[in-house]
Amino acid sequence: MTPLPPPGSPFGLGLGPGLSLVLPLFLLLLPPASGLAQVPPPQPPAPRRPPVVIVPGDLGNQLEAKLNKPSVVHYLCSKKTDSYFTLWLNLELLLPVIIDCWIDNIRLIYNRTTRTTQFPDGVDVKVPGFGDTFSVEYLDPSKASVGAYFFTMVESLVGWGYRRGGDVRGAPYDWRKAPNENGYYFHALRKMIEEMYEQYGGPVVLIAHSMGNMYTLYFLNQQSQDWKDKYIHSFVGMGAPWGGVAKTLRVLASGDNNRISVISPLKIREQQRSAVSTNWLLPYNYTWSPEKVFVRTPKANYTLRDYEKFYKDIGFEDGWLMRQDTEHLVYQMTPPGVRLHCLYGTGVQTPDSFYYENFPDRDPKIFYGDGDGTVNLESSLYCQKWVNQQKQEVTLLELTGNEHIQMLSNETALSYLKNVLFGL
Ligand SMILES: *[C@@H]1O[C@H](CO)[C@@H](O)[C@H](O)[C@H]1NC(C)=O
Ligand SMILES: *[C@@H]1O[C@H](CO)[C@@H](O)[C@H](O)[C@H]1NC(C)=O
Ligand SMILES: *[C@@H]1O[C@H](CO)[C@@H](O)[C@H](O)[C@H]1NC(C)=O
Ligand SMILES: *[C@@H]1O[C@H](CO)[C@@H](O)[C@H](O)[C@H]1NC(C)=O
Repeated sequence: MTPLPPPGSPFGLGLGPGLSLVLPLFLLLLPPASGLAQVPPPQPPAPRRPPVVIVPGDLGNQLEAKLNKPSVVHYLCSKKTDSYFTLWLNLELLLPVIIDCWIDNIRLIYNRTTRTTQFPDGVDVKVPGFGDTFSVEYLDPSKASVGAYFFTMVESLVGWGYRRGGDVRGAPYDWRKAPNENGYYFHALRKMIEEMYEQYGGPVVLIAHSMGNMYTLYFLNQQSQDWKDKYIHSFVGMGAPWGGVAKTLRVLASGDNNRISVISPLKIREQQRSAVSTNWLLPYNYTWSPEKVFVRTPKANYTLRDYEKFYKDIGFEDGWLMRQDTEHLVYQMTPPGVRLHCLYGTGVQTPDSFYYENFPDRDPKIFYGDGDGTVNLESSLYCQKWVNQQKQEVTLLELTGNEHIQMLSNETALSYLKNVLFGL
């Protein structure tokens, strides 16, 4: 599956006229097609490089929306659009007032009967670019540097001979949901991996970042060992929150605008709460002690045994249901059953617990621990436990001083990746 970028998209650039000049040259270098060969066809040559699939994290790929709404929350909001527009990431939609329209479109509505989420009335959201890389390279299609995500890594891969949408592909998904509501995605991912295996004559390297690691683990846990042995070369996990993320409690309680001051934390909180995946990422008891207090207020101390009360006290009881719907998804922490490279950042102040003078509507005082600024070290280090639990090798690489997003473009991380791909 290699969908081309939409016509007129800036991402068409890399596939423009230049490609037609390069293509004949490539064809000259390829062995003759077996049907034309005079001698018995040789075995397919060993691949020069394994194909690569990128699985992004939470907020980690573009989303598009099309509207035909019965009503809007403000007269400035669009009620109807003729086509899909970028819902994530478009900074213009996060400005005051306009952000109300945005939240009314990007939020998910939880149905307590079906225990699943629905889009708001008259909002259709789709994930652009499955199989291509543009949707994970830049979150913002205008390519503002603020939205750069996998760009540097993909550029490096291209420098090593890879082709965007060819042997390096992205696997974007609706990151607002947890795997229980993304069944079709895993089906499509499996199919794409099998196709790439056939097309490039060898097993695939999965590169995941952040929550993408939980998605990848869930995916691999669903596959048979025979399938994994055949189709997966290795799994490069970067900044994985295996045991959840402490910061999630603050996100749910008072919202987190990531210090972008024009965005009100309480506004963004609405979106953050409604995303099932936020609730999926609350800390797990296989990583943290049940005694640890994550949130302290003048009235209560909340540990991971107090989630039900926590959700009640922040006035978001649907969240408790979402947590129960998703807690089991990777709870067993079954090892992935493939060669794993676990890359994690350390030495960056990482939110570890919170004190609220006014709970839950004001920003808390933050207490920090070690990690990559987002993922706590105790969570990313969980992969250490797998070293003796699976027969495939598990290798850990500490990336000192690497922040959660920045590690994707760090030269040490990229040269490690090059070694994985080319076995230097
Ligand atoms: C929730 O789902 C049920 C079953 O599909 C449906 O009957 C009900 O209308 C839904 N609730 C809302 C608020 O949409
Ligand atoms: C950890 O949490 C799970 C899910 O809530 C629960 O079933 C289990 O009993 C807990 N284990 C411990 C040791 O507290
Ligand atoms: C919360 O725990 C601290 C000690 O960690 C204790 O001093 C405080 O009294 C507790 N607060 C409540 C409301 O239980
Ligand atoms: C990249 O990561 C390495 C290893 O952690 C670190 O020493 C180096 O300073 C980082 N480079 C940059 C530019 O941050």
